[in-house]
Amino acid sequence: MENLRNKYIEAIAAANDEAALETVRLAALGKKGEVSLKMRELGQMSPEERQVAGPALNELKNEILSAVSAKKEALEDSILNERLKSEWLDVTLPSRERPSGTIHPISQVTEEVISIFAGMDFSVAEGPRIETDWYNFDALNIPSYHPARAEMDTFYMSRSENDDRAPNVLRTHTSPVQIRTMENSGAPVRVICPGGVYRADYDQTHTPMFHQVEGLAIDKSLSMANLKWVLEEFVKAYFEVSDVELRFRASHFPFTEPSAEVDIRCSWDKGQLKVGEGDDWLEILGSGMVHPKVLQAGNIDPNLWQGFAFGMGIDRIAMLKYGVPDLRAFFDSDLRWLRHYGFSALDQPNLHAGLSK
Ligand code: PHE
Repeated sequence: MENLRNKYIEAIAAANDEAALETVRLAALGKKGEVSLKMRELGQMSPEERQVAGPALNELKNEILSAVSAKKEALEDSILNERLKSEWLDVTLPSRERPSGTIHPISQVTEEVISIFAGMDFSVAEGPRIETDWYNFDALNIPSYHPARAEMDTFYMSRSENDDRAPNVLRTHTSPVQIRTMENSGAPVRVICPGGVYRADYDQTHTPMFHQVEGLAIDKSLSMANLKWVLEEFVKAYFEVSDVELRFRASHFPFTEPSAEVDIRCSWDKGQLKVGEGDDWLEILGSGMVHPKVLQAGNIDPNLWQGFAFGMGIDRIAMLKYGVPDLRAFFDSDLRWLRHYGFSALDQPNLHAGLSK
């Protein structure tokens, strides 16, 4: 009995996986196991012998069973420990870099412009890119015989055969949003209108689709002086310089009177633009006092109200600020270019934290 106990307790201790343990269990307690066979011999014993051997065998059987189940638990524990050791996860590791999109410079600059003008209480207005010729031309004092229509390289939509209405156009500038804003909200007005515009033109500085931002302010006593101040504040904030000099050059637009093109003082050093100092001038926008006929078209009484308007190329000021030499690259969708010139989605333009990093 003592030998049997030692033999199996040792074998159980030595089993190093569940299969080996099961083999040991069967060798002792299986149908033909050594302990089971011994138990069967009890029948041939005398009652006295049986009284001693019976309980002893039972105790041995229980001892082996509990040794097996203790060992089984220990094996399971060690398997779990192995797994915990090999399959652990370091949750403090930085995540794997994933290719992510960037904010297009045009979107970024649009947000910069909006945030600067928002600081001067301008809100944002938008209009459709497909316009009637009335909004794009007539309402802006550009009648059909006006040479400005021909100069604009307009894309015309087509009408169905029996429809004699003048064709719609892809808007050639953001100025039609002036009219829509006046119609919708009346005076006073203080808005900027950013968005895409279209002209049939294609070279290093022209693409058939580009972006403008229109400015419109109407009140009782606004003048060119207010226009100049607003533009100076804008240019300083946008180019992140403390001083700028603006030059108003007399010009002509049918929808403003008087009209001026605005240049900013700058210098070019090895292709690098410096705004605010130098001997060069950089044209950045067209502007003027809103023409009385335009106010009328927007249902605003020109005897009571007056205001200024300006129109600026977003793509152009983006090229200037971020050193993009060819406008066409903006719209090529070349991933290498987009990754290089694009902005992080977290880089929100903000006047207090700096416009962009
Ligand atoms: N609409 C003009 C253009 O596209 C710009 C402009 C807007 C000029 C408002 C004066 C006033 O060239």
